[in-house]
Amino acid sequence: MNSFSQYNYNSSDIPSPCYVVEEELLHRNLQLVKSVADRAGVEIIMAFKAFAIWKLFDITRQYIPHSTASSLSEARLAYEYLGSKAHTFAPVYKDSEIETIAQCSSHITFNSLAQYERHRAVTERYGISCGIRINPEYSDVETDLYNPCAPGSRFGIIRDQLPAQLPDGIEGLHFHTLCESTSYDLENTLRVVEERFAPWLSQVKWINMGGGHLMTRAGYDTEHLIRLLKEFKSRHPHLHVILEPGSAHVWRTGVLVSEVQDIVENHGIRTAIVDVSFACHMPDCLEMPYQPKIIGATIIEEGETPTSTHNYRMGGNSCLSGDFVGSWAFDHELQIGERIVFEDMNHYTNVKTHMFNGITHPSIALRRLDGTIEILRHYTFEDYLHRMC
Ligand SMILES: Cc1ncc(COP(=O)(O)O)c(C=O)c1O
Repeated sequence: MNSFSQYNYNSSDIPSPCYVVEEELLHRNLQLVKSVADRAGVEIIMAFKAFAIWKLFDITRQYIPHSTASSLSEARLAYEYLGSKAHTFAPVYKDSEIETIAQCSSHITFNSLAQYERHRAVTERYGISCGIRINPEYSDVETDLYNPCAPGSRFGIIRDQLPAQLPDGIEGLHFHTLCESTSYDLENTLRVVEERFAPWLSQVKWINMGGGHLMTRAGYDTEHLIRLLKEFKSRHPHLHVILEPGSAHVWRTGVLVSEVQDIVENHGIRTAIVDVSFACHMPDCLEMPYQPKIIGATIIEEGETPTSTHNYRMGGNSCLSGDFVGSWAFDHELQIGERIVFEDMNHYTNVKTHMFNGITHPSIALRRLDGTIEILRHYTFEDYLHRMC
């Protein structure tokens, strides 16, 4: 498993707050993803929704030259900054945006047949390979917020609504049912997709198996994944297979450095208030919810009696009452100015941040392979100002 404790986050070259990406760990993940793609004979592309620090595209494109986009801006990012046309999926495409999206995309997946028909003239003009998203009505994801197959979902066409013959021009099927999942979850999904969508699999040229394949997580059975994909391909030799994970590329490749600003106490609960916010800078901690690891501290599980006396909740610096997570046990009393380093903060973080309360946005830095720190971006009052009007 990628370890952050080998790196020095107290260096004065790293400001606080700051997202720090570890180039060494990024290469390691990307190598693994590429080797899975090569060995399984499938195409793996990177979902920008999880990670879009374009200043690092010189690194990522060495391994993964294509991307999936979920909006006009992400499609432009693919074409103009990554240098390749996007595989685009969005729940809807606006008439005013589809032309530019088509210019920037090689593949466009539609969420409904009505959307396909609405934009068909444009996609034909640009020679786009079009697909439709199907909803297999099966997912192992337990958190509804992240479950695209929950009853009533707005994503994908269910089997009963598909015409026996797909409309002319539909070349692909797309499903996305996984989230931080294993290859065994994919196996379950594939079983359902093949059972329920057999008549349509033979009508298309490609299948996109979406994201959520967390192949860089410790313990993920990559050999099983490769076997599964090869077997799928041997059952459907006419299909080009595409996977579009996001998190897997950048899983455990970066941290969020912060500093303790104050310590408050209320009914025996001690909260260290840091110069970052869960709500603004680590939103998945509140949405999923989950408790991130902190270097040098131990997570105290719900109901667990802590063995240390130095136990703290971490409180964010926004005015949202629920902007806290915790607790953690430390081996010493926290000091004002001490650095708190939240692990694994390079996916679904800087792509989701916002400037609620005008809170200072963390800088973004890269630790190069030779150990030097490069500040990729520093945010100022002007960034806040220009967002507000
Ligand atoms: C359609 C689609 N593709 C790909 C992804 C990327 O998923 P992950 O980052 O979990 O691999 C998502 C995530 O929500 C998605 O909705």
